[in-house]
Amino acid sequence: MQAYAQRAAPSSDHDVELWTVTGLLHDADYERFPDMDDAEQGHPRTIMAELERRDAPPEMVRAIASHADYLGVEPESPMERTLVAVDELSGFLVACAQVRPEGIHGLTPKSVKKKLKQPSFAAAVSREDVRGGADRIEVDFDEHVAFVIAALEAQADELDLHGRSAA
Ligand SMILES: [Fe+2]
Repeated sequence: MQAYAQRAAPSSDHDVELWTVTGLLHDADYERFPDMDDAEQGHPRTIMAELERRDAPPEMVRAIASHADYLGVEPESPMERTLVAVDELSGFLVACAQVRPEGIHGLTPKSVKKKLKQPSFAAAVSREDVRGGADRIEVDFDEHVAFVIAALEAQADELDLHGRSAA
């Protein structure tokens, strides 16, 4: 989210901090409230309520709602569409990096596409969401994958994505 916000700035009015924090917080309640059928507290309702309580920007709360398709809030703004575009893909790329000795380094769109075709690999990740994400932000699929790989690689220390070679 930070990388995509920075890519467009300063020619756009994208708020880099808003995009970054929205990305960081969008799943903040997931571990405690994973039950999406819990209409009161289920992810992401708890984090949305908490952010509202803290007077977080309404755009942040709406974006978090829009990444959960079962809440019926269609992703519309660039930030909302980008969140949906990078969410499942980021998880998938981390899964790819975790099975490579080199981690995220040297990961290519070509090898990612190969993994996407293996239904058993990171089976929880929706292929439809990953494929549809690039269209949502009108970026070529390979370009989108390469961009998110580069963004994750830039944070490889924090995300522990250097692979076994770093151990
Ligand atoms: Fe989520």
